[in-house]
Amino acid sequence: MNCEKFVLEQTLILKATVKNGIAINALSGGVDSSVLTVLAHRALGKQLKTILVDNAIMREGEPERVIRTFAQMRIPVERIDARKLFLKALEGITDPEEKRNAITQTFYKDVFGKAVKQTGATYLLHGTILTDIEETVAGIKRQHNILSQLGINPQKAYGYKVLEPLATLRKNGVREIGKYLGLPPFIVNRIPFPGPALAARIVGEVTPQRIDTLRAATAIVEKELAHTGAFQYFAVLLEDRATGIRNNKREFGQIIVVRCIDSIDARKATVRELDWKILRRLAKRITAIPGVNRCVYDLTPKPPATVEYI
Ligand code: XMP
Repeated sequence: MNCEKFVLEQTLILKATVKNGIAINALSGGVDSSVLTVLAHRALGKQLKTILVDNAIMREGEPERVIRTFAQMRIPVERIDARKLFLKALEGITDPEEKRNAITQTFYKDVFGKAVKQTGATYLLHGTILTDIEETVAGIKRQHNILSQLGINPQKAYGYKVLEPLATLRKNGVREIGKYLGLPPFIVNRIPFPGPALAARIVGEVTPQRIDTLRAATAIVEKELAHTGAFQYFAVLLEDRATGIRNNKREFGQIIVVRCIDSIDARKATVRELDWKILRRLAKRITAIPGVNRCVYDLTPKPPATVEYI
């Protein structure tokens, strides 16, 4: 790919579209939104307002880490604490699509809608990539971030226009652009993380306690499997329970799934054949999390499984 040409073209489009106005974007710290932030900041400078929405379902220490990283690149990011709003919206919901929908509505309507009004922004920039569009259009998954492809008019529904400068790229292309733009390797090479965040990995209700359990398991898996260089690795909290024994007492505990896959662009994936020693260490550390007494390894490729669990 010709990165110089892509960046130049997108810069010109952003400048010509936003003109003297204000654009706003939400940074999650994932590869896509990070690359978008740097690209848009280059094009728009002070006309870009970047917010980080703390939605209560981010990984351990993530909001602070992301803001610090971008501050080092002299890109200001404002944290919006929307934890209560998201937890309230997710309360009592167990259906995967309803969960995604609750997150979409809270994100766009309650949080962005408000932020846009406060800043006077007329454009919302979004890090949607080609795979998101294809899978949504094919009905494989309802991506939370591509309203217009779904025929929802964001201007009408939420009061602003959405621009998606990365919509022609796949994940590997986004990484190339990130590298070209000088993003640090630990961001460019970061494993993908879904928009619905940890909620995409909690089967059943998303409660503060269940988020804490999954957050702890996620931190363990990300640390233990970083050296594999796999495309994606993460933990999932199941709704089922299983009997176990702790301190000589039987307990009906929670089950964590570990998933580690290889893929080029997430359209297809194979399962990494992890070393037994690593799996054993993962099981030991994960079952030390309070309330978790089982750890299982997911052996399913995509297809027939998807990468995430909701
Ligand atoms: P699935 O589960 O559909 O995931 O096989 C394919 C890739 O997309 C990521 N993913 C998402 N990314 N918003 C995102 O930005 C989402 O709603 C979403 N759902 C899944 C997933 O992590 C994998 O890399």
